[in-house]
Amino acid sequence: MLFKILLLSFLVLSCTSHGNAGVTSTFVRSEWPSVDIPLDNEVFDVPKGYNAPQQVHITQGDYDGKAVIVSWVTVDEPGSNKVRYGLSEEKLDLTAEGTVHNYTFYNYKSGYIHQCLIEGLQYGTKYYYEIGDGDSSRSFWFQTPLPIDPDAPQKFGIIGDLGQTYNSLSTLEHCKQTGTETILFVGDLSYADRYQYHDVGVRWDSWGRFVEPSTAYQPWIWSAGNHEIEYFPYMGEVIPFRNFLQRYPTPYLASKSSSPLWYSVRRASAHIIVLSSYSPFVKYTPQWEWLNEEFKKVDREKTPWLIVLMHAPIYNSNDAHFMEGESMRVVFESWFCRYKVDIIFAGHVHAYERSYRISNIKYNVSNGPSYPVPDKSAPVYVTVGDGGNQEGLAQRFRDPQPDYSAFREASYGHSTLEIKNRTHAIYHWNRNDDGKRIPTDSFVLLNQYWGLNRRRRKLRKNHLHSALSDLPLSVVL
Ligand SMILES: [Fe+2]
Repeated sequence: MLFKILLLSFLVLSCTSHGNAGVTSTFVRSEWPSVDIPLDNEVFDVPKGYNAPQQVHITQGDYDGKAVIVSWVTVDEPGSNKVRYGLSEEKLDLTAEGTVHNYTFYNYKSGYIHQCLIEGLQYGTKYYYEIGDGDSSRSFWFQTPLPIDPDAPQKFGIIGDLGQTYNSLSTLEHCKQTGTETILFVGDLSYADRYQYHDVGVRWDSWGRFVEPSTAYQPWIWSAGNHEIEYFPYMGEVIPFRNFLQRYPTPYLASKSSSPLWYSVRRASAHIIVLSSYSPFVKYTPQWEWLNEEFKKVDREKTPWLIVLMHAPIYNSNDAHFMEGESMRVVFESWFCRYKVDIIFAGHVHAYERSYRISNIKYNVSNGPSYPVPDKSAPVYVTVGDGGNQEGLAQRFRDPQPDYSAFREASYGHSTLEIKNRTHAIYHWNRNDDGKRIPTDSFVLLNQYWGLNRRRRKLRKNHLHSALSDLPLSVVL
């Protein structure tokens, strides 16, 4: 009881101040070499059998979570476009028919890329599915989310800047241990753009096989980073995002977007908005117009959790990529506060950082210098570009630590956000620590809509009891 009283007191205090000075972690890990795993390693093994499906991945296929897009590649011939699926492994009595295409990138020719939309799924249901032909067919499963409901729980994993090194593998393995249901991916997938000519396509293929143990079983919500741009005039490839867009479909039409690079989905109690840091976003551009409309559609009574994904962080105190998110901050930050976004995840910087609830929306070019100030309506900003790619860690944080920065550490890892109900979610950043997963930055996230409404304090208190009954967390944001 004493613990709960103390916790509730802290909760009230945390609503009026942004807390103590930030922490710069002094943890230094013995880093594995930041090199890509050799192609002959078993993590890139091609599945056995003629024309066996490989690089299998799924993503949400509609606005509300009753559809899935299954993608896979065959290399010998196009083969079947069908997905056979059902409620038990023995009875795959339903079928969906997809499409197949391939493409060239300089002198690389892709395999046959299959994409199949499965619609009309039941909520909260485990489905088994099979793709491929005869002896080479392969089986997987996925779980659909609960119906859209303000108290529907959901456990998200958040990964960024993954690449295909031994550190990347550690991140994937740790994420599997945390039991996530959906991955929110904040850009920079394969780092294939670090290669040249034919090898670019080869490393997109190897990455697809590398992540398959996760991507075939839970939807990854994709956003694009700078490593997806792949502007290569030296080999005549100048159309941005070509490899990414050919391979990783998104359900952008379902949210009335005009581009696969920005869109939104609703899952259980969350409304997730995906933005593109490397597409036009200033006033009157398609992305700006779309986001202007999308924010108006968010119904916090049904989906209380409002989450935004982007690649370049808006608040970042690392020397790496410092201020690169400033142009998007100027355009969108006032909306993030007006619509009370709960949390914004970004990548790009190869380190971990979390902000207090702060904003700098009072600044304009006429009123002189200004600094971020505590703002109860502002989101928490999290940079989790620490998936473990070949470029290594961003080890130089700016000194002193700015007031807006709550916690920062230059290690690899991933985050989890476990939504408990409409008012509370449990957040962890999990450091990769020499093969072990160590939850390092942990707190309770209060919902910005239901958590701040004074008339609903009683509800919040009741939810807090059920959400925290077995968790000794003392930090509430
Ligand atoms: Fe990046």
